[in-house]
Amino acid sequence: MKKRFGLLLAIIVALFMTVVPLNAQHAQAADNSLAEIQKKGTLVMGTSPDYPPYEFQATVNGKSTVVGMDIQIGKKVAKDLGVKLKVKSMSFDSLLVALQTGKIDMIISGMNPTPARRKNVAFTHVYYQGGYSIVVNKTDKAKYKDKDSFKGGTLAAQTGTTQYNAIKKQTSGTKTKGMTSQSDLILALQSHKVDGVAMEKPSAQAYVSNNKSLASIPSHFNMSSSATSSAIAFRKGSTSLVNEVNKTVDQIKKQNLVKKQYLPAAGKYLKTNSVDTSMPHYWKAFATGVEYTLIITVCSVFFGFIIGILLALARMAKGNPLKTALRWLATAYVEFIRGTPMMVQVMFVYFGLGLFVNLPALTSGIIAISLNSGAYVAEYIRGGINSVNIGQTEAARSLGMSNGATMRYVILPQALKNIWPSLGNEFITLIKDSSIVSIIGVTELIYQSNIVRSDTYRGVAPIVVIMVLYFIMTFTASRILNYFERRMQHD
Ligand code: ARG
Repeated sequence: MKKRFGLLLAIIVALFMTVVPLNAQHAQAADNSLAEIQKKGTLVMGTSPDYPPYEFQATVNGKSTVVGMDIQIGKKVAKDLGVKLKVKSMSFDSLLVALQTGKIDMIISGMNPTPARRKNVAFTHVYYQGGYSIVVNKTDKAKYKDKDSFKGGTLAAQTGTTQYNAIKKQTSGTKTKGMTSQSDLILALQSHKVDGVAMEKPSAQAYVSNNKSLASIPSHFNMSSSATSSAIAFRKGSTSLVNEVNKTVDQIKKQNLVKKQYLPAAGKYLKTNSVDTSMPHYWKAFATGVEYTLIITVCSVFFGFIIGILLALARMAKGNPLKTALRWLATAYVEFIRGTPMMVQVMFVYFGLGLFVNLPALTSGIIAISLNSGAYVAEYIRGGINSVNIGQTEAARSLGMSNGATMRYVILPQALKNIWPSLGNEFITLIKDSSIVSIIGVTELIYQSNIVRSDTYRGVAPIVVIMVLYFIMTFTASRILNYFERRMQHD
């Protein structure tokens, strides 16, 4: 037992050792960053579109789109480089990893070039100076003056942001609450789960002007000017690219483009944003969500089942040393998968394996979930095989059937019948658990509901809609599975 544990630990350490230096290599690669982007012809911008007027979702020509001043800046940067811009949405706290692992080429997301971040990425010159405010409920406005008025209460901020750290470090007797999405924070404020939300001043103004029940107060955080201004981030060491983009940034500043053009343009979208926020209006988004959820589930069940059979057979192999090794590996695999959260596995496949092969989010999601499901299915199948009376094997063998044929024609069909309910459960679980891949930006149902929520500023309605949709899917699946179960009982 001890020996096994040691080996497992060694495997994990070895895994990390291969991943970490590779990351460093990424950063130090000879600087042909500019040439590379120009050769590729597209510049992938990562952003967290929950931060008006920097970046946010708005319905443009009937389609939910990411707009805002940062998008304008991204477009200009791409145009000046002579390449196409592609915008990729993700949560703010995933942006730095995504940049470092090559999922995106740059971050424009109202990000402050703090010294800590500079250690890991390269920043351009500052393109905008924001400053901080705290958004509160209008009814409470008289109670609060600045960050120090929240003693005994809760101040909230988006996780991974400078304002989150500021609350932690610069307030006392105040609880800090972090959430990944800025839109969720506003909902938490409106439902009085938190008392104030800290964010950049322009964003506070945007939320307040879009929502009559909110007000904003000064924060009085003690911050250096770099910690409250925004710059564009590139991978560390991309000097040629950063220098080239700095020309664009300097021009934007010299011509005052943000104030003169980009902010007014963003403001227009903020107004049109509140046109039709009824749920049926967003049926397309929900339909895409259902489609992706089903694609992920069906693919993962299929591959998971194959992986499961192979693993189960491997776990039952005995005889020669090769088979023992196989059995040991399969056991280690099952234990490891069952012992780590699926969320971490999804991130590992997407970001970690992404260092070797750049897999798209959907493929990564399907791989991670299939690998995960395979481990569970293996256990069901093993249990199922063990549950078939040994007499069956003996009978088949004495009829002259080979080992393999016995397994295929006698044992597995009976085992399958026994474990059908468990497999069905697994299928239904996957319909629900596939939602985890929303964290890497797969456009399944949860992801879509987040988009609808930030598009409409409505918190509860989209949640109710997807709850109903999930139930319809799982209930239908369970009816279908029951039908097959009954049929199997007959034969
Ligand atoms: N200025 C803050 C930071 O750099 C937060 C920016 C949040 N941006 C966003 N798009 N949600 O940490």
